[in-house]
Amino acid sequence: MERTLVLIKPDGVRRNLVGEIVARIERKGYLIANIRMLEADRALLEKHYAEHVGKPFYEPLVEFMLSGPIVALIAEGNRVIEGFRSLAGATDPTVAAPGTIRGDLARDQGTKVVQNIVHGSDSIESAEREIALFFGGK
Ligand code: RTP
Ligand code: MG
Repeated sequence: MERTLVLIKPDGVRRNLVGEIVARIERKGYLIANIRMLEADRALLEKHYAEHVGKPFYEPLVEFMLSGPIVALIAEGNRVIEGFRSLAGATDPTVAAPGTIRGDLARDQGTKVVQNIVHGSDSIESAEREIALFFGGK
């Protein structure tokens, strides 16, 4: 069964949106196969965001992800990688479609890096790599 890694970023946890986001994933029909809260460290984030090293938003992104607890979860179901990214909406919350997590629950806060509540893996390879990082390969 296909799996994806979802992160509820520090803004989502701070704003008490964990239940809202988990509920949207469940109502869509995906299974929450595992879930944990953690405070990420820099080493974990460097691996998770390896593709973005060197980009102008990389350091602000890591600082933001270190700013508070996050929730990591594994969602499971046919085409869940594509399906969760559709639920999440566009990266920029200002233009993310209403009805999506980012479109309904986030906006531009004028911060150095966009705060957009959730992360979702973008391919089967990234999903398996990211699940291993956050759940030790389980
Ligand atoms: P994610 O990985 O978090 O699911 O988001 P995504 O695929 O929609 O976006 P991606 O390009 O992978 O970027 C990862 C995260 O970096 C921040 N970002 N800021 N121009 C910017 O200010 C910018 N671009 C990316 C966002 O937090 C984005 O989710
Ligand atoms: Mg991405």
